[in-house]
Amino acid sequence: MGFREDFTWGGASAAYQIEGATGEDGRGMSVWDMFCRQEGRIVDGSSGNVACDHYHRYKTDVDLMKKIGYKAYRFSIAWPRILPDGTGCVNERGVDFYDRLTDSLLEAGIVPYVTLFHWDYPYALFRRGGWMHPDSPKWFAAYVDVIARRLGDRIKHFFTLNEPQCFIGISCDTTEHAPGIHMPIWDTLLMAHHVLLGHGLAVQALRAAVPDAEVGIAPTCSAHYPASDSPADIAAARQAFFDIDPGRVFWSVSLWSDPIFRGVYPQKLLDLHEEHMPPIRQEDMRIISQPLDVLGQNIYNGQAVRATADGGYEFAPRPTGYPSTAAKWPVTPEALYWGPRFLFDAYKKPLYLTENGLSCHDVVSLDGKVHDPNRIDFLHRYLRELRRAADDGVDLRGYFHWCVTDNFEWAKGYTERFGMIYCDFETQERILKDSAYWYQEVIQTNGEDL
Ligand code: GCO
Repeated sequence: MGFREDFTWGGASAAYQIEGATGEDGRGMSVWDMFCRQEGRIVDGSSGNVACDHYHRYKTDVDLMKKIGYKAYRFSIAWPRILPDGTGCVNERGVDFYDRLTDSLLEAGIVPYVTLFHWDYPYALFRRGGWMHPDSPKWFAAYVDVIARRLGDRIKHFFTLNEPQCFIGISCDTTEHAPGIHMPIWDTLLMAHHVLLGHGLAVQALRAAVPDAEVGIAPTCSAHYPASDSPADIAAARQAFFDIDPGRVFWSVSLWSDPIFRGVYPQKLLDLHEEHMPPIRQEDMRIISQPLDVLGQNIYNGQAVRATADGGYEFAPRPTGYPSTAAKWPVTPEALYWGPRFLFDAYKKPLYLTENGLSCHDVVSLDGKVHDPNRIDFLHRYLRELRRAADDGVDLRGYFHWCVTDNFEWAKGYTERFGMIYCDFETQERILKDSAYWYQEVIQTNGEDL
C-alpha cells in the first residue's frame, strides 16, 4: 500500500535557528537572545544572531528546497518579529518578511506549514511573568490572531506549538534551554496549563480567521517500542509510551496530549501532583480540547520496553556498541513505526511526522561535496518503518525532515549539523549533501523504492 498519493514530503526549520537578523527591522528580543548572552549557556559561545542568515537569503533557500523537490516547508514565525513587545503594536517589517517568504514558497510550488511558536518567546513578556502570567494564554492567542488575519489567505496549515515538553520541561525544569530558570513544580504545572489554554485560544482564533485552515500541534516524545513482538511487550511499550516519569514529568506525551484530545489531565499526573496542580476550570478544559484536524509529532528515537512479571514494564538495556548519531542519540528506526502506531490508536488523529533526522559529522570533502551516508542509511531505515505504519493503517499525512539547512542547535550552538543542506557559517555558502539527492528520489517515487 505505501504512503498515500498526496503524502506531503518536506523539511522543517525554526525561526531562531536559521533566520539571524535578530536586531533587524524592528524585531524584539526573545528569551533566546537573553539566554545566549549569558556566559557558558551555549557550548560554543554562539547565538542565533546570524545563523544561516535566512532572513536575507530565503530566496536561495526556497530555490534549493524546490531543487530537492519539497512539496511543503514547515517553518516557524518569530513572535518577537511580529509583536516586538509580545503584545500591542504590530511590526509591519516583521510581517512583511513572512509575506515575502510565503509568496516565494507558493511561487515555487511549495506548501507553507507554519509553526506559530518554536521557543523564541518575547523577552518583554518573559519580564512580565511569561507563561506564569494569567494573561499569557490571551497574549499567545492575540499574536496568533495577527498571523491568521495577515497570512491566513495563503497559509492554510498551522501547528500552534512546537514541543512544549522542551520549552517548559527543558527550559524551566532542567534549565538547559532558555530562559534557563528552574521553577518549582507548582509553577511549571501552572505554566503548562497556561500553555495548553493558549493553544486552545489560538485554535479558536485560527478557526475564526481562517475557516479552511488545517490546525494541529507539534509535540515531541521518546517513542518507546516493544523489545519483541510479543503481545505482552507491545502492551508494555504502549504503557511506557503514555506513562509519566516522576523524574521528568514534562517530558511526557500524555500530560500534553490527553488534555488536548481527551479534555482531561492524565490520572498518573494527578496521582503524582494533585496537590501541585493549578485550579482547573471545566471551561479551561473545554477550550484546551478544541477539536484539531491533525496531530504533528517530532520523533527521533525511543527505547526498547519489555513486560515485567508484575504487569508493569522495564526498559531493555541497549546492546553494547549500539548505533548512535553525532549527537550521541540512539538510532532506533522502530520508533517511527510504534510512535505513530501508538499515537493513532490512542487519539485517532491524522498524523504528520513534523520532525525526524539526525546530526552527522558533515564536512566538505576534497571533491567539494558533502557525503553523508549515515544520514541516508538512518533515513532509509526510519522511513521504511514509517511506511510500515502506513501499511498497517496509520493515517499518515506527511513527513518533514529535520532540518533543511545546518543551523543553530540551541544550547549546542553550531556543533551539530542536522541539515540536508550544508551551511558554511563563515561564507553562508550552501551545499546540497548527498542525502538531499537521495531524498529527491524518495519524494519523486513517494517512498515506493525505500
Ligand atoms: C527539537 C526542536 C528542534 C531541534 C531538533 C534537533 O525537536 O528539539 O524542534 O528545534 O533543533 O529537534 O535537536
